[in-house]
Amino acid sequence: MEIVVCKTKEEASKLAAGIITAAVKKNPKLVLGLATGSTPVLMYTEMAKAVEAGEVSYKEVKSWNLDEYVGLPGTHDQSYRYFMNENLFKKIDIDIANTHVLNGMAEDPVKECADYEAQIKAAGGVDIQVLGIGSDGHIAFNEPGTSLASRTSVVYLTPSTIKDNARLFFKGKEDEVPTRALSMGVGTICEAKKIILLAFGAGKADAVKGMVEGGVSQFCTASALQMHNDAWIFCDEESASKLQLKDYYAWRSTTKLQG
Ligand code: PGA
Repeated sequence: MEIVVCKTKEEASKLAAGIITAAVKKNPKLVLGLATGSTPVLMYTEMAKAVEAGEVSYKEVKSWNLDEYVGLPGTHDQSYRYFMNENLFKKIDIDIANTHVLNGMAEDPVKECADYEAQIKAAGGVDIQVLGIGSDGHIAFNEPGTSLASRTSVVYLTPSTIKDNARLFFKGKEDEVPTRALSMGVGTICEAKKIILLAFGAGKADAVKGMVEGGVSQFCTASALQMHNDAWIFCDEESASKLQLKDYYAWRSTTKLQG
């Protein structure tokens, strides 16, 4: 696990976007795993700028998103399909038919999840998986107590995640946040060839500490990334503030990135 400590989230987002842009330039048929939430928005803006500048094209890129709320159609302004269309897909030249988000309205959610896994496999697996982290240490919607071997399935949100998401996206209305979601599993996520996780703000400091310096535990599902051999964690100063070896990680990752 490499921990990149940037001064600001702007700097971290630019660096992470640069890695994705370079990877798409190298392999125009890259398979991306994408995330929603407030954290990756700046990175998506930077990715779009590179497309606008004619630096890179996503015409042949395929994407699979991490998760979707059960019960929200893709047209709902709080659905993750809607979020992705607005925050990234409309701003780059990706073919919308190549973008995949789990269907939260699926009549048979179990089949929906199994089909999703099969699609990713048929595409050759995810080359780069983008992740955020929940304040409770979740990745995708894999809440504390979820098996680190879990596969894409129906999952149940914790009260703390419902609270976080209500504050950020549902105008504070907790009763409007769906209590269930379809989510890629921890095991599914860890099969990606490379992982880029973004964590910004003091509210993520405990989760980052648990992920990086805690034991591997289903209580902090992000800690499973300790078992991944190409996971890059992009922090700002605040989210990295509780790391015991912060300065060492920062020096090591900067040296590797320059290398
Ligand atoms: P956030 O969510 O980016 O809105 O903080 C992250 C997450 O829950 O994974």
